[in-house]
Amino acid sequence: MPKVKILSSVAGYDLSAADYDKKEKYLNSFEKNKIWLLLGYLSGKKILDAGTGTGRLAVEMSKNGAEVTALDVSSEMLKQLSRKSNKIKTMIGDAECLPFDKEIFDLVTAAFLIVHFKDPSRFFDEAYRVLKDGGRLLVTNINQKEPPEIKTKQGVIKIESFYHRPEKIREILQSLAFTIEKEIIVKEGENWINQIIVAKK
Ligand SMILES: C[S@@+](CC[C@H](N)C(=O)[O-])C[C@H]1O[C@@H](n2cnc3c(N)ncnc32)[C@H](O)[C@@H]1O
Repeated sequence: MPKVKILSSVAGYDLSAADYDKKEKYLNSFEKNKIWLLLGYLSGKKILDAGTGTGRLAVEMSKNGAEVTALDVSSEMLKQLSRKSNKIKTMIGDAECLPFDKEIFDLVTAAFLIVHFKDPSRFFDEAYRVLKDGGRLLVTNINQKEPPEIKTKQGVIKIESFYHRPEKIREILQSLAFTIEKEIIVKEGENWINQIIVAKK
């Protein structure tokens, strides 16, 4: 049996970017369209989509009139996004060290991003810094104990990821002075599969 390589986000997503959008249905199944209920009116809002990937959220938010900046560590994922929209500003960068001044965004979104952080505090702290007073962070936390196997041209890989308990995510956000405004725990039967939080600065 060939060994499954565990790669960093940059290496893993660069390698699998071309096929990422085929997973859209799978990703949506963890959200069950609930994100859109929480986002509200977007027209004219300045939004940072952190860990934007191929722009699954960014493209829709832009179509709804938001001014979207899409940031990701993977240049190949951003290339896929750029094929879909020329209205979105893309940036290669690290969500744990955001290349922006403080207090410039109305909303920071992060879907399926924190699963790649051992400790999401650094990203939350950075999101807090770049949000305007009263701005909001929308973050999702997938229940994923083992990263899925991904077939690539260079063999089967997994991308490094970490499991976070929902109560831990709540605790961290509150300790950083966010107020949790809304929370949806998406369930399948008895089990939670995704936590979606809107937290206000
Ligand atoms: C599972 S994908 C989610 C993409 C998109 N948000 C979505 O919901 O489809 C995770 C994305 O986070 C990016 N990522 C991982 N670590 C990052 C970091 N430190 N800073 C910015 N992006 C990161 C990956 O490159 C990848 O594109």
